[in-house]
Amino acid sequence: MTDGRRRMVVTGQHGQVVQSLLERGRDDDRFNVVALGRPELDLSVPDSIEAALKNARPDVIVSAAAYTAVDQAEAEEEAATVINGVAAGKIATIAAELNVPVIHLSTDYVFDGSKRAAYVETDPVAPLGAYGRSKLAGEIAIAEAAPNHVILRTAWVYSPFGKNFLKTMLRLAEGRDSINVVDDQVGNPTSALDIADGILRIAINLVASDHPRLRGIFHMTGSGWASWADFATEIFQVSAVQGGPFAEVGRIPSSAYPVPARRPANSCLDCRKLLENHDVVLPDWQTSTAQVVDRLL
Ligand SMILES: NC(=O)c1ccc[n+]([C@@H]2O[C@H](COP(=O)([O-])OP(=O)(O)OC[C@H]3O[C@@H](n4cnc5c(N)ncnc54)[C@H](OP(=O)(O)O)[C@@H]3O)[C@@H](O)[C@H]2O)c1
Repeated sequence: MTDGRRRMVVTGQHGQVVQSLLERGRDDDRFNVVALGRPELDLSVPDSIEAALKNARPDVIVSAAAYTAVDQAEAEEEAATVINGVAAGKIATIAAELNVPVIHLSTDYVFDGSKRAAYVETDPVAPLGAYGRSKLAGEIAIAEAAPNHVILRTAWVYSPFGKNFLKTMLRLAEGRDSINVVDDQVGNPTSALDIADGILRIAINLVASDHPRLRGIFHMTGSGWASWADFATEIFQVSAVQGGPFAEVGRIPSSAYPVPARRPANSCLDCRKLLENHDVVLPDWQTSTAQVVDRLL
């Protein structure tokens, strides 16, 4: 500990979740958030992880870095699996050796999307693509290596930082009057800033109690659901009110927008387990979308 706060060591440097945690951590009186990324910590070289993490002297580890290029992973499954699977397991092994909790980010893409309602944590997993399989390998490795873990499955992450759908839509609308967006995939748009708030709350709970009900897999997304086309429409409506870029949204099926990786048609996640055990619920996706668009304009 330094300055009385616990050290929350987060993997990655420029990613959406790590940047959001650094921002939220600036005003946090319980955790000093420290980012640990390349070159000190390179997940593609799992043997490099131990020294980097131990030198960082964590009280809590947040495993937020990942191979996140969903389409590219189809051609690079081995590289994705080393980073998302093997390295995740290594991080959890070190967390267990240091006797500190590890909070790991996972994804809605562990599901195949065929369920007609929101997925709960115990639903069967069946990833459709290489990215989902690599993230599932990470979930399994974390659970095996560290009993003191929380795996947070989140989805459709956007923020003022890095690359994401919301920023892409605003950029495309600078040069176009209309944009075609897929309307037959539904999920939960989630602000990385809200994820950061949730992680800080969960970390407090883990440090305060070793109760098993606080550990395991939890779904954590923005409240409410949307299709990608709904999400784009909302982004442009908010932007137009602020005098920012606007485009009409053309609603198209996935079949009209071919990409290498198949996505689940329904990846909505039921987040009640998180509310019931950690007292954490993220805001409505529309409220947080407006906040992020406002910041970007
Ligand atoms: N984005 C989504 O829509 C989404 C949806 C569901 C779940 N998730 C999960 O949520 C977590 C956070 O996602 P995000 O959107 O914040 O990711 P992101 O913005 O794509 O950032 C990825 C992060 O991983 C780091 N990274 C990649 N390869 C690395 C390596 N070999 N060694 C060390 N660091 C490496 C990057 O490093 P640099 O800082 O050097 O760039 C960056 O900090 C991930 O676990 C992801 O799988 C994301």
